[in-house]
Amino acid sequence: MFHTPIAPRVRKRSRPAEAGAPRREGVKFEDVRLYLVERKMGCSRRSFLTQLARSKGFIVEDILSDVVTHIVSEDTQASSLWTWLKGCELKNLPSVHVLDISWFTDSMREGRPVAVETRHLIQDILPTFPGGPTATVSQYACQRRTTTENNNKIFTEAFEVLAESYEFNEIEGPCLAFRRAGSVLKSLTFEVRSLGDTQDLPCLGEHTKELIEEILRHGRSFEVEKILSDERYQTLKLFTSVFGVGPKTAEKWYRRGLRSFSDVLTEPSIQLNRMQQTGFLHYEDISRAVSKAEARALGNIIDEAVHAITLDAVIALTGGFRRGKEFGHDVDFIVTTPEPGRERSLLPDVTDRLEQQGILLYCDYQASTFDMSKLPCHRFEAMDHFAKCFLILRLEASKVEGGLNSTEEDSRGWRAVRVDLVSPPMDRYAFALLGWTGSRQFERDLRRFARLERRMLLDNHILYDKTKKEFLAATTEKDIFAHLGLEYIEPWQRNA
Ligand code: CTP
Ligand code: MN
Ligand code: MN
Repeated sequence: MFHTPIAPRVRKRSRPAEAGAPRREGVKFEDVRLYLVERKMGCSRRSFLTQLARSKGFIVEDILSDVVTHIVSEDTQASSLWTWLKGCELKNLPSVHVLDISWFTDSMREGRPVAVETRHLIQDILPTFPGGPTATVSQYACQRRTTTENNNKIFTEAFEVLAESYEFNEIEGPCLAFRRAGSVLKSLTFEVRSLGDTQDLPCLGEHTKELIEEILRHGRSFEVEKILSDERYQTLKLFTSVFGVGPKTAEKWYRRGLRSFSDVLTEPSIQLNRMQQTGFLHYEDISRAVSKAEARALGNIIDEAVHAITLDAVIALTGGFRRGKEFGHDVDFIVTTPEPGRERSLLPDVTDRLEQQGILLYCDYQASTFDMSKLPCHRFEAMDHFAKCFLILRLEASKVEGGLNSTEEDSRGWRAVRVDLVSPPMDRYAFALLGWTGSRQFERDLRRFARLERRMLLDNHILYDKTKKEFLAATTEKDIFAHLGLEYIEPWQRNA
């Protein structure tokens, strides 16, 4: 097995390892302490690499102890390495980076310890050892890769019911806590099978752990079932499922004793606004999920309409479908043009054209209030100021490959679908794209990370460095991640 010496409990006094000792001379990076695993590397290569690193100002420890922050190994066999590491009884093991040689070579090339990226981690440690070094899971969704595959649905669905219930009661803290916890579990490449598996995960509090334990034991949660059968929860859930009905209106109707759609629609004193009227009118259609094929068909329709107006238009699919989701509640597009200022009037032209085609069932247009001189805006989670419209379009079955997403044969041959269009100026494109791609939790954590870890402000319009007091330019999403010192996360990995 491994022949590398293991940390003795008491350091020998003769070791020149502490501050002031000769080999600490020229140390540039006090916070980083390397340990090179000899196995596979071999003794002579290990001492060569040790000399190399020390000559570049790195601290390299000869023995593995709790002071080590970065363990580098050329042994890519995760299981034997991990077994050995566990045997070393390091107290801080969950917080130590266990890296392959690529991190070391990158750092030597750069002449500084580079940020740890996923590609530097010893492969397969996580799936092989659930409950292993899971401390590598970040508390920020923007530092996790979350695909649409959720291995922990049974827990995350329960958390979502609790989050929603807190939301209906306007209790913000626990609501956010359950959303964060759910998001962490969604990012796991393994299914949680025991409470021990969650031991080193961030964002899981007492309440969430109790819930996980209950679900592990009984396959369901009493607390969740109680909420699901609660009349108030059920009614608010029903009312807010209507386009144009938010929690405030739903609560108002509930307080007046209304419990069903027919209660609402037959109550003479209730004046529905235009949005709500449309919401009820197309309820069946727009509460049914939009399929990928339907999203593609709508992409063609928007493409055609926009290009008929301006040839140099830029159209991008965003929202859930850009993240690779199979179904969505709507389809989101960014529509803009390189011609400065033209983006302010583009959307009305597009919706006029959709109307001429007879497919515009509803349009709520919000003109641009974007003004660069009023930024940065310190208001948290404020809506963006770009021109946008919330639409309901009529989608013909004949335009959809494989037909419409409907359960029974729909003799109408069409369905109503929700579509969102947003039109930022071209130089704001990357910020708008990042903001509208979501998920909501991913966006929340990007902003939180920027604020707390980088002293920067991020929103759908800008990235602002508070230390340097300057705006940071970006033409692609990659630029924004780079400014934030974050590893790039692909859209399909942002399903936090
Ligand atoms: N968004 C935004 N400003 C708005 C509306 C939406 O920044 N006025 C962002 C949201 O933060 C979200 C993204 O646009 O990240 C997409 O919103 P939405 O369509 O509601 O959600 P999806 O993630 O696309 O999910 P779904 O598939 O259910 O539509
Ligand atoms: Mn969407
Ligand atoms: Mn949307």
